[in-house]
Amino acid sequence: MRRTTAVLAVEGVGVCLRDGEANRWILHDIGFAARPGEVVAVCGPSGSGKSTLLNLVGGFGIPEEGSIRLDFKTGGEREALRVHELTEAERVRYRRQHVGFIFQFFNLLPTLTVEENVLLPRRLNKLGGGSEQALERLAPLGVGDLRERFPDSLSGGEQQRVAIARALSHAPPLVLADEPTGNLDAANADRVVECLWDQVRHARAVLVIATHNERIAERADRVVALR
Ligand SMILES: Nc1ncnc2c1ncn2[C@@H]1O[C@H](COP(=O)(O)OP(=O)(O)O)[C@@H](O)[C@H]1O
Ligand SMILES: [Mg+2]
Repeated sequence: MRRTTAVLAVEGVGVCLRDGEANRWILHDIGFAARPGEVVAVCGPSGSGKSTLLNLVGGFGIPEEGSIRLDFKTGGEREALRVHELTEAERVRYRRQHVGFIFQFFNLLPTLTVEENVLLPRRLNKLGGGSEQALERLAPLGVGDLRERFPDSLSGGEQQRVAIARALSHAPPLVLADEPTGNLDAANADRVVECLWDQVRHARAVLVIATHNERIAERADRVVALR
């Protein structure tokens, strides 16, 4: 597997929404850092800004305040990205190449099979070959038996596992997971989180996970508590 030795540094991030005449700050002075192989849990009640924070780190939008930096290696080359300063076009490339995003509501492509969904990031990044190895590496997620199926024939839990496999298939330096166990029973949640954790540690990537699950928060290297 690609080893990336990623380092993520978020400093003083603030997000302000225009609310009629007034400004409403939904995130204020948020900071955290993660070293290679580390897991950061973002916790807080519904509406506290977990998804907003993950989206910014993933290059969907730019914060009004603060900085987001990702340093990592790809194929021996070091890259240092100042995510908050990227142009729209650069952020598209950043999201495609360097981020694995597990959306809260999966966002699987309905016209592609499970296998095509999982391998899509590899195809978009022209990672020729290695697809079988990638599928093998992701076997613990249990998507192998679903390969030929289409997303709308899957249960919520199955879609969740496919979404996780897709985020990991190109072994990105940064994995962002928005409540990835929300649709799973406890046994499945443990299995899936175990796999996610393993992949990120082995790749020396960084995982940021928004969650209500206390067991996940307890296991994380760092907890960012939003309120
Ligand atoms: N596009 C938007 N327009 C207006 N308000 C938004 C928008 N996105 C999020 N919000 C508000 O920002 C706050 C944080 O939302 P969110 O990040 O989704 O929280 P969480 O993921 O913790 O539930 C909420 O008050 C929400 O209503
Ligand atoms: Mg959310």
